[in-house]
Amino acid sequence: MNTNESRTAVITGASAGLGEALAEQLAGRGWNLILTARGEERLAKVAERLDARHLAGNLAWDRAHRERLIALAEGRVDLLVNNASTLGELPMRRLAEADLEVWPEVYELNVRVPLHLAQLALPSLREQGGAIVNITSDAATGPYETWGAYGSSKAALDQLSNVLAAEEPDVRVWAIDPGEMHTRMLADAVGEEESAQAPPPSEAAALIAAIIESRPAGGRIEARYFEPPRGAQE
Ligand SMILES: NC(=O)c1ccc[n+]([C@@H]2O[C@H](COP(=O)([O-])OP(=O)(O)OC[C@H]3O[C@@H](n4cnc5c(N)ncnc54)[C@H](OP(=O)(O)O)[C@@H]3O)[C@@H](O)[C@H]2O)c1
Repeated sequence: MNTNESRTAVITGASAGLGEALAEQLAGRGWNLILTARGEERLAKVAERLDARHLAGNLAWDRAHRERLIALAEGRVDLLVNNASTLGELPMRRLAEADLEVWPEVYELNVRVPLHLAQLALPSLREQGGAIVNITSDAATGPYETWGAYGSSKAALDQLSNVLAAEEPDVRVWAIDPGEMHTRMLADAVGEEESAQAPPPSEAAALIAAIIESRPAGGRIEARYFEPPRGAQE
């Protein structure tokens, strides 16, 4: 990854939770940031605080929004963080009762959107020797009851990351599991009381920033077990 001049990262879902915390981490490390989420007000406040560019909009079902987002980078994307995601139906239901009408939304935001953004950014990522972070979950591998829609979409994202890593030798592609975090998404899934037992997203964000800067081999990484390889870049 080019470290001689200031690098540019595009982060989705950057107005709250892990996306906001990772934006803070990267801003502190000198990255230029381009941030997106649906809600303009909250996103604009984060962008102003971090001196970042931003573009509000729904990433799902809107190719033009995604194209405008990547175009903001004017051909210089060093890092794409696919972080925005949805659980789908709430409360989540067992597969036997799942509402399949909701599944296209889950697979759109959690699988197709990350790949489309990667397609748009790849010419620049290849040129810069850049990286893609796809935020995954332990629900991709654990058979948690009621987590079937979300979990299977994250499993698809994991495999998409593996294949992309093999196909794009000039770009690092990681699927990173941040572990449980006290955020709106976890509260939506398990309730505020249980969610509050989880660590703040700033902890996972610091680990993910360290992964990005140390550039380990591509693949699936559980952030909490990450140890920087010897001789890694600071
Ligand atoms: N929290 C956990 O315990 C946990 C555990 C494992 C993995 N993860 C993963 O970590 C990532 C971040 O989750 P989080 O817990 O930080 O979530 P969060 O606090 O709910 O934040 C989600 C962010 O995504 C944005 N967003 C949602 N839908 C969007 C859409 N259609 N288009 C654009 N932006 C959208 C939200 O803003 P708007 O609502 O304004 O759009 C917000 O900025 C996700 O990939 C999640 O699957 C979370």
